[in-house]
Amino acid sequence: MPAEFAFTLNGQATTVRAEPAQSLLEILRDTCGLKATRLGCGLGQCGACTVLVDGEARHACDTSMEAAAGHDITTLEGLGSRADPHPLQAAFVEEQALQCGYCTTGMLMCSAALLRRNPDPSEQEIRQALDGNLCRCGVHNRIVRAVRKAART
Ligand code: FES
Ligand code: FES
Repeated sequence: MPAEFAFTLNGQATTVRAEPAQSLLEILRDTCGLKATRLGCGLGQCGACTVLVDGEARHACDTSMEAAAGHDITTLEGLGSRADPHPLQAAFVEEQALQCGYCTTGMLMCSAALLRRNPDPSEQEIRQALDGNLCRCGVHNRIVRAVRKAART
């Protein structure tokens, strides 16, 4: 049965009406209109839907609204903007760390979580942190360079 769920979304107090088991991804995209978070596998296996929950990287596709309620959710829309990009966003552009761009949101959000807990990660630590984020275009090396560059910014 639908219920009201309150949480913080990109710094704003937000309440939505949803089924408890409905995915955070569906609510973000279809109810909140925030389309940056992508649906890839829908099974918690590709990382395309990564958001920050209380600063930690989480798959929005397998996070229920019941689990998201009461937490602080950040999507790519809350990370930075065209006018004021996050250092990761600037570095991804400078290093051309994308091809089709489908994985980019998840890569950025997972990298943002990494830099929060480790502001100066080694290449190996970056590769480990992004291990669950798939990129079918194979731009992993550029992504790693971009994260290293953002860490030094
Ligand atoms: S869409 Fe969520 S992990 Fe693939
Ligand atoms: S840039 Fe295409 S999937 Fe990563």
